[in-house]
Amino acid sequence: MSKLKIAVIIGSTRPTRFADIPAKWILDQANAVPEIEAEIVDLRDFPLPFFDEAASNLWAPSQNEVAVAWQKKIASYDGYIFVVAEYNHSITGALKNALDQSYVDWNKKAFGAIAYGAMGGARALEHLRAIGIELHMASTRSAVHIATGDFFKVHPGFGGSGNLADIEASIAPSAKAMLEELVFWAGAAKAARG
Ligand SMILES: Cc1cc2nc3c(=O)[nH]c(=O)nc-3n(C[C@H](O)[C@H](O)[C@H](O)COP(=O)(O)O)c2cc1C
Repeated sequence: MSKLKIAVIIGSTRPTRFADIPAKWILDQANAVPEIEAEIVDLRDFPLPFFDEAASNLWAPSQNEVAVAWQKKIASYDGYIFVVAEYNHSITGALKNALDQSYVDWNKKAFGAIAYGAMGGARALEHLRAIGIELHMASTRSAVHIATGDFFKVHPGFGGSGNLADIEASIAPSAKAMLEELVFWAGAAKAARG
């Protein structure tokens, strides 16, 4: 089977976001896996309106050209790794809107995640997993969580280093597990989709 095409989707768009640091780190980890060909997909490159279509693209083709470009982009991948910031115990509004802007293109695909925050972004990721069920997606059990001491150690906004190598011993095992599960589920779904 050819390599699995995986998008590392950056879910935060604010100018001073931390998200770029975990995104780059997990991109490198993913591309070190022989079965994976990963690239960054940045929501900043898709200035989507707040959802204003007549229906999701399950029921009617979308009219907004950015939404259509976004759907085509999502459709071109076998799976996803979401970079998950936790905003008020959930995912960012930007990521929720981007998820809503496509439907069929997410279907029967797998995803993993790297999440961060005081509690490792765990509450946001659980919300994302519930949304994924409605989108007919399969979540890996494992995920990378950058939490508490690790989070403050590497987050430049809190005086941290900006370098995930400083916490690699803590997060590398979960990245390995998440990527192994993503290869399994994304590969199984790709074969099943034919
Ligand atoms: C609107 C907002 C809400 C936040 N809510 C939470 C939260 O519920 N839990 C948490 O651990 N951190 C929370 N934070 C802190 C974020 O974890 C921190 O700002 C992180 O850098 C956000 O990701 P980003 O920089 O990639 O946007 C919040 C930050 C913002 C801007």
